[in-house]
Amino acid sequence: MSGLSGKVVLVTGAGRGTGRVHCERFADEGADVIMLDHSDAADDLRATALRVEQRGRRAVLGTADVADLAAVTAAVDAGVERLGRLDVIVANAGIHSPGAPAWQITAQDWQRTIDVNLTGVWHTVRAGVPHVGSEGGSVVIISSTNGLRGTAGTAHYTASKHAVVGLARTLANELGPRNIRVNTVHPGAVATPMVRNPATYRRLRPDLDDPTEADAAEVLTARNLLPVPWVEPVDVANAVVFLASDHARYITGTQLVVDAGLTQKTT
Ligand SMILES: NC(=O)c1ccc[n+]([C@@H]2O[C@H](COP(=O)([O-])OP(=O)(O)OC[C@H]3O[C@@H](n4cnc5c(N)ncnc54)[C@H](O)[C@@H]3O)[C@@H](O)[C@H]2O)c1
Repeated sequence: MSGLSGKVVLVTGAGRGTGRVHCERFADEGADVIMLDHSDAADDLRATALRVEQRGRRAVLGTADVADLAAVTAAVDAGVERLGRLDVIVANAGIHSPGAPAWQITAQDWQRTIDVNLTGVWHTVRAGVPHVGSEGGSVVIISSTNGLRGTAGTAHYTASKHAVVGLARTLANELGPRNIRVNTVHPGAVATPMVRNPATYRRLRPDLDDPTEADAAEVLTARNLLPVPWVEPVDVANAVVFLASDHARYITGTQLVVDAGLTQKTT
């Protein structure tokens, strides 16, 4: 048993992509979900909530930009008030803006990426941790393979995804005595709108005028050890659920890579 039945999970960026699948997987395990996303994603959030409710679990929706501490705190407080407890925090919301060399990234792109991907994670933890009860819990922070290595044209994203590893390692030290475990998950390319979009296809295939998804998939497949272009959101969600579950009860301060072998490929 995962030990997640009857627990309450907070997921940021729950409207679409991997965040939606995290909510579905936790509901499958018998957990209720507090779901946060920014106000533009309100329709997406409702669609995710429906999927949680179809699984017989409760969903509480909150709209907040994770870069706004007051808004995140208010939404988390309201969710915990409704569901009565908080056991698991999944800091998933993140952005990836079009790439440029580090010395050409605009100050605005740099700041927004740090505000969402790093400070937003801290806000999520700051708002959520005080609600986790004396029986302990789990924090899972979604980093990236860019949290373990650099790639050209991603300085702002890569810096933010490395930084959350430092945050997680520190939190693991601070929260271990309270039996709250803290880990990061490092996906390679995931089949979500963050990757499956024409701008990304053009970045991956500058040699083509109008690259298709299949053209982009060729390049991504060549980067992996396993013969796939990307992992599916459920593969990341399964890793998150594992880390949040009793199956991982003595795992804290670690980095779990879900990347089809991307970071280990040597040739
Ligand atoms: N897709 C990939 O290839 C990939 C790879 C590695 C890591 N990741 C990470 O996984 C996480 C989820 O990414 P995804 O692929 O599902 O992306 P996505 O773009 O499909 O979904 C991101 C979700 O986060 C929400 N969000 C964005 N900014 C927000 C903000 N400021 N406040 C609140 N919500 C916000 C969006 O509305 C959306 O619902 C991110 O942290 C991302 O960096 C993704």
